[in-house]
Amino acid sequence: MTEKVNIEIDGKKVQAEQGAMIIEAADSCGAYIPRFCYHKKLSVAANCRMCLIEVEGGRKAMPACATPITDGMKIKTRSELALKSQKAVMEFLLINHPLDCPICDQGGQCELQDLAMGYGSDHSRYDSTKRVVKDQDLGPLVATDMTRCIHCTRCVRFTQEIAGLQELGTMGRGEHVEIGTYIENAVTSEISGNIIDVCPVGALTSKPFRYTARAWELQQRPSIAAHDCLGSNIFVHSVNNEVKRVVPKENEAINESWLSDRDRFSYIGVNSEERVLKPMLKRDGVWQAVDWNVALEIVASSFENIKQHFGADQLAGLISPNATIEEHYLFQKVLRSFGAASIDHRLHQVDFADQNALPLAPELGLSIASLETQETILLIGADIHQEIPLLSVRLIKAVKNGASIISMNTYDAKTRFALREKITASTDQLAHHLAAILKVLDSAACPQLTKDILVTEQDKLIAEHLKGKKSSIILGAIALNSDHGSTLRLLAKAIAHATGATFGELSEGANAAGAWIAGAVPHRSVGGSAVEKVGHDAQTMFSKSHKAYMLFNVEPEFDCAEAAKALSALRAADFVVACSPFMTDAMRDYADVILPIVPSVENEGTFVNCNHSWQTFSPGVLSKGEARPGWKVLRVLGTFLEIPGMDYKVVSEVYSELKKAIEAAKFESTNFMPTALPSYQDTIAQWSLYGLDNVVRRSAPLQKMAEKMV
Ligand code: SF4
Ligand code: SF4
Ligand code: FES
Repeated sequence: MTEKVNIEIDGKKVQAEQGAMIIEAADSCGAYIPRFCYHKKLSVAANCRMCLIEVEGGRKAMPACATPITDGMKIKTRSELALKSQKAVMEFLLINHPLDCPICDQGGQCELQDLAMGYGSDHSRYDSTKRVVKDQDLGPLVATDMTRCIHCTRCVRFTQEIAGLQELGTMGRGEHVEIGTYIENAVTSEISGNIIDVCPVGALTSKPFRYTARAWELQQRPSIAAHDCLGSNIFVHSVNNEVKRVVPKENEAINESWLSDRDRFSYIGVNSEERVLKPMLKRDGVWQAVDWNVALEIVASSFENIKQHFGADQLAGLISPNATIEEHYLFQKVLRSFGAASIDHRLHQVDFADQNALPLAPELGLSIASLETQETILLIGADIHQEIPLLSVRLIKAVKNGASIISMNTYDAKTRFALREKITASTDQLAHHLAAILKVLDSAACPQLTKDILVTEQDKLIAEHLKGKKSSIILGAIALNSDHGSTLRLLAKAIAHATGATFGELSEGANAAGAWIAGAVPHRSVGGSAVEKVGHDAQTMFSKSHKAYMLFNVEPEFDCAEAAKALSALRAADFVVACSPFMTDAMRDYADVILPIVPSVENEGTFVNCNHSWQTFSPGVLSKGEARPGWKVLRVLGTFLEIPGMDYKVVSEVYSELKKAIEAAKFESTNFMPTALPSYQDTIAQWSLYGLDNVVRRSAPLQKMAEKMV
């Protein structure tokens, strides 16, 4: 525990941690010291001098961000010396600053503008020409106006220290100093948008947001990002019910103060031309808009018809892992009450052999923040930057803290942190390596998989890194979506058991954990309880064709592991209803009815993240047109199908019913043990960073960014 010392700030007695900087102690007791270059998440640069304060006994003003406190220190933040120094710095800063606040996107939210009000003068003593700096083209996400740059280097330190990819730097000296990419280049980090937030002035602003609204016009509503299992906290900023931008909402346990570009810029996809705002019905091959009642009546009567002629199990339902847990719950409730059993959300998965042996829901195995303090992290089939871009920030910190990160993957995935060991091999070979590592650690574990295995020197080294250390083993999408996913998971868990390491998975979508808990799987109901009849999984429901399908927020042509098989099953079906915010060409072909649901930013409900943290959110903006939140559509469909208990008035009633059902559930699982290691190389379908879901795919700036990243 760090030692506390007694200091005095502006006459107030304060206890602070020995070695902390004056600015940190002042912040913790509410004494404001102006600053530009200081940022609590970045190293100290002390180059702007805006934070000059007086320390009793000191010969001159000191920078509060770079002066450590000592016992008995008496600090004056608003003494004559402090204020004179701060005002002098401000005068220097404004000499070359353009002061074009009325046309600056930062106006109204600018740290320089705010501080100039308090510390600036109403006129300048400088009457020569101001300096002009050529703008940089940093790509489709970040707009620049480098004349406004005050050289605080926050952006440079962010790219270097947090993103792990130094894309920006300081060039030149004195009045010729400039911030840039050295050679003409876009910033390509998956979390590059954070430089917009750290820039205290209007030098770096959001390109898609530029000139679309002024800061003071924006309405701010909190929400949860819907593109990965981290569940980053966000604020949705809107004007007249139009989303104008998305910014991070600080949550130290999850996203700290950062946001991935995917979470920040995907909102643009919401207003795609393919957005569907009225229920649509295909009559004699022609699509026409109809009333909700007509559409729902046709869905209900078509389902009843199929049930009567072919049985209820001829209806299969596929739901996105990005749906809310309330939607997952109602989806399975409607389908199961109707008599259907084939219900799934595991769109990318192909190996389901161990599904009965799995825990209630996938999770990371340790808190997101504690990744930073692990000694060894073994990543199996995981491309962190593509799957969960913000998790890379934690891994970069872990390496800085001395962690050894080991990657076992099917390709040489780029990382922004150093790897201690790396194995690149096909998934069957990865299984062999895992079996070998297990054999080194515990020769008695899984003998049928380890007995004839050859152990390499590298396998021994990896075992050594894991043994007796604070270790974590994490399985990513490439492992989980492979033909050998079950075996890889079993071996990874056995290694975790043998070493005391935590075991976790990077589940896909925003709410895969919620889907499992709510029973959106064919073999388990709510809370993991047994089902009367086990249905087909997400792949079998297409390889064994069904007469009717219900799709919820899924575009099988892009979202399913075996898209071609899915499309031909859908085309051959008698009836397909798609609940979707968008209408695609493929959907026009295979669907009979399209029910317009809202995308996440207009939705309400709860996501369960990779730490099983339940995060409930309200709409960032109201629903567009006649599109409705998915839970309401499912509720009314249930009523049309005469399913009892569907008269919820608000989404919190669904939540309460679900919680009670989970409490009452009896979780059941069995054992899984393969008899042999995989013996063939499989091909794994992969989803790109900006191709992952229906909203991201429609965000034009992110798609342009994807082209630059190739
Ligand atoms: Fe005004 Fe700030 Fe823009 Fe400078 S950066 S022009 S002070 S709003
Ligand atoms: Fe600071 Fe912004 Fe200039 Fe970067 S661009 S050095 S963050 S003022
Ligand atoms: Fe202290 Fe910049 S904030 S020198």
